[in-house]
Amino acid sequence: MKRTLIKNLGENIRKEVLVKGWVDIRRDHGKLIFIDLRDFSGLVQAVSTPKEDSHKVAETIRPEWVVEVKGMVNERPENMVNADIQNGNIELKITEIKVLNEAQTPPIDIQSDGKDIGEENRLKYRYLDLRRKRMQKNLRNRSKALTFIRNYLEKEDFTEVETPILSKSTPEGARDFIVPSRIDKGKFYALPQSPQQYKQLLMVAGMERYFQIARCFRDEDSRGDRQPEFTQLDIEASFVSQDDIMDLLEGVYTEVVKKFYPDKKITKSSWPRLNYQDVIKEYGTDSPDLRKDKNNPNELAFAWIINFPLFTEQSEKDFFHGSGSAKFAPSHHMFTGPNPEDVSLLDSEPQKVRGLQHDLVLNGNEIGGGSVRIHDPKIQEKVFDLIGFSAEQKKKFKHILEAFTYGVPPHGGIAMGFDRFMMILENEESIREVFSFPKTGEGRDPMMEAPSEVEEDQLKELGIEVKKKK
Ligand code: AMO
Repeated sequence: MKRTLIKNLGENIRKEVLVKGWVDIRRDHGKLIFIDLRDFSGLVQAVSTPKEDSHKVAETIRPEWVVEVKGMVNERPENMVNADIQNGNIELKITEIKVLNEAQTPPIDIQSDGKDIGEENRLKYRYLDLRRKRMQKNLRNRSKALTFIRNYLEKEDFTEVETPILSKSTPEGARDFIVPSRIDKGKFYALPQSPQQYKQLLMVAGMERYFQIARCFRDEDSRGDRQPEFTQLDIEASFVSQDDIMDLLEGVYTEVVKKFYPDKKITKSSWPRLNYQDVIKEYGTDSPDLRKDKNNPNELAFAWIINFPLFTEQSEKDFFHGSGSAKFAPSHHMFTGPNPEDVSLLDSEPQKVRGLQHDLVLNGNEIGGGSVRIHDPKIQEKVFDLIGFSAEQKKKFKHILEAFTYGVPPHGGIAMGFDRFMMILENEESIREVFSFPKTGEGRDPMMEAPSEVEEDQLKELGIEVKKKK
């Protein structure tokens, strides 16, 4: 007999079906035993009576056991109908039960929303933590939103291109995670902080409209809105203005909200485009919360912030490796173009140059950032000089400067912090709640016990010696 999904039981009234899944709850009512059965598609109440041989099995089974149940789909008597729940009008009358696997009592409660359970335990038993309704919903909605975005961008002639993970440092302001090379001992790959250089090189390659659901890696301390690896919806396009980029993103994100979160209201469409200086003056931050009613979780206040200064003052914590003497650091990153009206100021008053950067904020969170890029190798060199790159440091980017001598189209793009967007849509406090297997605040995975030590042989092969802690 073929398996019927629990969500489809309502279409099988007065039919015999085979259901497979987990025991959610089991209630012993003397003669009758009620078993709530759960699969990925839903929940149904099943009932076992002493008349059936399977009743003996029903007496033994416990929550989280994996079972196969044969039974009749019956309509519930009128007074037993519960219109508020899935399958509240039916009941599965059990005729056969096969136990596929027993289960120990879960070490964490998985019936609740899990908010009261310590993070260490939730992550150690993440495969159980993910069984809870809230986490199932978050992961499934995340997938739906991503699929929708992919299809939307494909229709707009964008092509999804995967770029390398074993790569070389692309500075986005954080430390790199590095991977030792076995073949070339003493040399290292860096995991990408973003696909920034690759996507610009794809524009030189004539792809014109690129996107990627890109994994990014940044060795920085985790917070509620920050993980060492996270997902960007990364976009780059040729022959576009800032307006084109902002319009595209407003279009696709608005559709996601309308389709999957119809209860949510967008405060203002089209999204306000605010000047950085004005925002700083008025709110004291570049990611203001512009909701009219901050207690309303269903309000979404999107806003673009534009006209950032191209440079900020360089500080000790800048990891883009400018030499000590330089005063400037890129406000977004070193490939961001200056406003064409301000190019002449690059020599005289660089601090006054506005950049073609656009950040997207939502309810006080920065959920995306990008820019129209420099496509003139001479201006790129000038920016490298202003941020204090030595000849040696410039050499690290010679491939970009060289590529730009072979016919580079004007181009620009953006990267959306996809985890943060999902966190807000799902009314969650932390991006960890929309991740499958996140890291703790200290960057650990308590389930896999990563990071971990490696075999002495592995280190030897890599030519690496680890100094033992005293
Ligand atoms: P940026 O560094 O601003 O731009 O990153 C884009 C967006 O990614 C999200 N984000 C993060 N989300 C979770 N955890 C993190 N550690 C984390 N760091 C950043 C934020 C941010 O707005 N290459 C450029 C984009 C471009 O110019 O096209 C870039 O990566 O929501």
